[in-house]
Amino acid sequence: MGQAGAVVALTAVRREYGSGEGRVAALDGVTVEFAPGTFTAIMGPSGSGKSTLLQCAAGLDRVDEGRVQLAGVDPSGMSETALTKLRRERIGFVFQSFNLLPTLTARQNVELPLRLAGRPPRPDQVAQVLAELGLAERAGHLPGELSGGQQQRVAIARALVTRPQVLFADEPTGALDSRTSRDVLALLRRIVAEHGQTIIMVTHDPVAASYAGRVVFLADGRVVDELADPTVEAVAARMAGLESRHDTEQDVAEQGAAC
Ligand SMILES: Nc1ncnc2c1ncn2[C@@H]1O[C@H](COP(=O)(O)OP(=O)(O)OP(=O)(O)O)[C@@H](O)[C@H]1O
Ligand SMILES: [Mg+2]
Repeated sequence: MGQAGAVVALTAVRREYGSGEGRVAALDGVTVEFAPGTFTAIMGPSGSGKSTLLQCAAGLDRVDEGRVQLAGVDPSGMSETALTKLRRERIGFVFQSFNLLPTLTARQNVELPLRLAGRPPRPDQVAQVLAELGLAERAGHLPGELSGGQQQRVAIARALVTRPQVLFADEPTGALDSRTSRDVLALLRRIVAEHGQTIIMVTHDPVAASYAGRVVFLADGRVVDELADPTVEAVAARMAGLESRHDTEQDVAEQGAAC
């Protein structure tokens, strides 16, 4: 598939953090494409660059080298105003740390992206997405009055309420029990099938990844593998391989340093 068919594409993307001795390449030449109406899981050991990939793909972080295409445009060439408009209208993002506003209720947090985009929230639209996430009874609560899993579901509802063309989600089920997690994953899979939305989801969980149509594996800032129509067993086996490789490299580095 060429880039013309992709809704999100990264080409030879490099992103470094820090300076001097402490400089790390969080992404080290990443090329990957995501077709419209697909659900992809991104997996890899801790520190492999998954969150950085998501932030760069969503235009929330700049890249040092390479190119990003998001919904047909290159975010690096856009003004901050145009970028904000693009994010509000086309993109949803669920962060690893929820990022809910503490003084707003669950319902107000969910309504916020619509208000920011100048689209007055319709009560039925907001009620529907809250109900889909099992939050109907919690709509009037502040984040501080909700459990971690409930806060995570408010963050997902907030990202879905605008029906974004692309949803980026960083560990969206990390704080959920397995039952709630399955419900949320089934909902994500349904919105891809029914609304043609595109989902790119970082996860550590092979069960969560098995809900996606494709898994992309990262290690040390590079794409090292991918799997189509993943099963839990196949994903777990690949992850075990990457983690043992990671451990071996760390051992070698530590021994090297000790010599
Ligand atoms: N703002 C930052 N400043 C400095 N280093 C950073 C920053 N963000 C990420 N890094 C580094 O870049 C690398 C990749 O980080 P990233 O957060 O993308 O990993 P990850 O795969 O999402 O890990 P996890 O599974 O633990 O969330 C790590 O070595 C991390 O320490
Ligand atoms: Mg991360």
